[in-house]
Amino acid sequence: MAATGHSVTSMPGPSAPPEGGDPFLAACRGGFWRRTPVWFMRQAGRSLPEYRALRGSGSILSAVRQPDLVAEVTLQPVRRYGVDAAILFSDIVVPVAAVGFGVDVRPGVGPVVEHPFSGPGDLSRLRPLEPGEDTPYVAEAVALAVRDLSVPLIGFAGAPFTVASYLIEGAPSRDYARTKSLMYRDPATWNALLETLADMAATSLRAQVEAGAAAVQVFDSWAGALSPSDYRRHVLPASRRLFAAVADLGVPRIHFGVGTGELLGMMAEAGADVVGVDWRVPLDQARRRVGPGVAVQGNLDPAAVVAGMDVAAARARQVLRSAGGRDGHVFNLGHGVLPQSDPGVLAGVAALVHEETESPRTRSPRTGSPATDSMGTASP
Ligand code: CP3
Repeated sequence: MAATGHSVTSMPGPSAPPEGGDPFLAACRGGFWRRTPVWFMRQAGRSLPEYRALRGSGSILSAVRQPDLVAEVTLQPVRRYGVDAAILFSDIVVPVAAVGFGVDVRPGVGPVVEHPFSGPGDLSRLRPLEPGEDTPYVAEAVALAVRDLSVPLIGFAGAPFTVASYLIEGAPSRDYARTKSLMYRDPATWNALLETLADMAATSLRAQVEAGAAAVQVFDSWAGALSPSDYRRHVLPASRRLFAAVADLGVPRIHFGVGTGELLGMMAEAGADVVGVDWRVPLDQARRRVGPGVAVQGNLDPAAVVAGMDVAAARARQVLRSAGGRDGHVFNLGHGVLPQSDPGVLAGVAALVHEETESPRTRSPRTGSPATDSMGTASP
């Protein structure tokens, strides 16, 4: 059996274990292995006291340049919550910041840009990403994390639309008026910007996978601001370009957004193996929207965690029922962990998902057809 990049090994490399052998990778491929896997978006972060102790103050953009710190923060939630996947501690604006666009991440606010993108003249401020030169610390951190992890590591990037929205708005926005205005007024500049950002994201994801990430997630957190026809016309082509540019890596590709209920079908069409669903759309409906052959990830309301264990447990069970069986479901929140969440409740949710779904039976990826159980006999 090939060595897996996420087991303890001194040889970091792309991890491509047989999907049958890992709950998270099996679910991403539409199958099931042993239990429904669970991880939490923003699992590394402010809800963990051990994160706050290590992190200190200063921009997250300085923190991500310290591979030892990044590896440790990436591992913390795996120890604390017993989750089935880790996600690299980084941020979606790391590549654009690294090529010198002038982005910072202000604590409590999010990404801010000193001179926002306003027209074709700003395209030259985004040169192609050279991971070895611009972000060597990312591959170092991935290799360090993978060496010590017992579960797959998820690499990630921001989707072209969501990163563009930060560059154009200059600060977090409610209505995305500047972003959409550029999109409507100047489609040529818009398309050039989105293609550039798609290529930067693909380059970043490739470097993360080459260093040992076993899956990738593309965050299009704010795509829900768009109508389906605008998404199809102005965003889907660039997102499709991004997914196509990492298809040959052979790792599962997850595509996530918030408020994207009406866009789920197109988010699958972009080329995803897994579509992330927020808490607004029940998973049985989400499955119909993404169509056959695509797994779903989600979708416990992060506020249910804040409400305490009883509420979180009842709602987690509801999510499992709505997933309609064990195949092709990665349990997650509908968006990131809220800072005021009690780590004990998150650990409780992870344990509950495992207990409720634990089974020696497996199903083969994609087809969902009966495979063999641990005794080697066909399961019903
Ligand atoms: O645990 C993980 O999920 C991995 C780490 C991670 C961070 N950012 C660390 C971070 C991931 C996957 C991201 C992605 C990211 N960054 C997204 C997509 C995910 C989503 O929530 O929709 C977005 C939109 C951003 C942009 C961004 N960066 C925001 C909105 C903020 C929050 C600002 C705040 O302080 O409330 C950040 C900063 C940030 N990124 C923090 C962390 C842990 C918090 C500040 C810090 O500790 O420095």
